[in-house]
Amino acid sequence: MDFEQVIYSRRAVREYTREPVSETALRRLADAAVQAPSATNEQPWIFSIVRDRATLARISEAAKAHVLAHPPAGVVLGHLHEVVENPEFDLLYGAPALIVISSATQGHWAVENCALAAENLMLAARADGLGSCWIGFIQGWLGTAEGKAAIKVPAVALPVAPIIVGHPTVEPTAVPRKTPEIIWA
Ligand SMILES: Cc1cc2nc3c(=O)[nH]c(=O)nc-3n(C[C@H](O)[C@H](O)[C@H](O)COP(=O)(O)O)c2cc1C
Repeated sequence: MDFEQVIYSRRAVREYTREPVSETALRRLADAAVQAPSATNEQPWIFSIVRDRATLARISEAAKAHVLAHPPAGVVLGHLHEVVENPEFDLLYGAPALIVISSATQGHWAVENCALAAENLMLAARADGLGSCWIGFIQGWLGTAEGKAAIKVPAVALPVAPIIVGHPTVEPTAVPRKTPEIIWA
């Protein structure tokens, strides 16, 4: 798959097989992620990789309760309220692995640094035939003391990018893009 194909075919994947992702494959994704630029070349990234099914289920449950109690600012849950309230609903879509990219410091560009690494990681996953999806709904809970403890990052760290990874069951259909709004300034 060439570079353009990778960019144009990456999709948010929400259905996975039960097949685990190997440690080697997960390390490759982290290696691709750290090729991202970072402000003042800080390279502040920490990658928490969760593969234990019980821990993944616990994260989904705790994050669901947190989202309902503290909906992300500016996000109207709407029908998602019912979805999240459903005890059967797994915020992590049954994925066999969750990679959380955190910044070791809460510096001025912590979010930008982690988001850039996240896109690299998701594109690398696509190139390797893996699916991925950023799960913003667990971010709030990951930022709590309990969340940070679950992904084993220090209290001073800032968890930014939770990304599930696994083998897709289907190729998701493309979500159409708006034409870029360009201002020739
Ligand atoms: C910051 C961020 C948070 C997201 N949070 C979620 C989420 O909690 N659950 C989910 O299913 N998808 C989530 N997504 C995936 C988006 O819904 C998805 O990228 C978007 O619909 C476009 O689809 P595509 O990635 O297949 O092109 C998130 C994406 C981003 C960038």
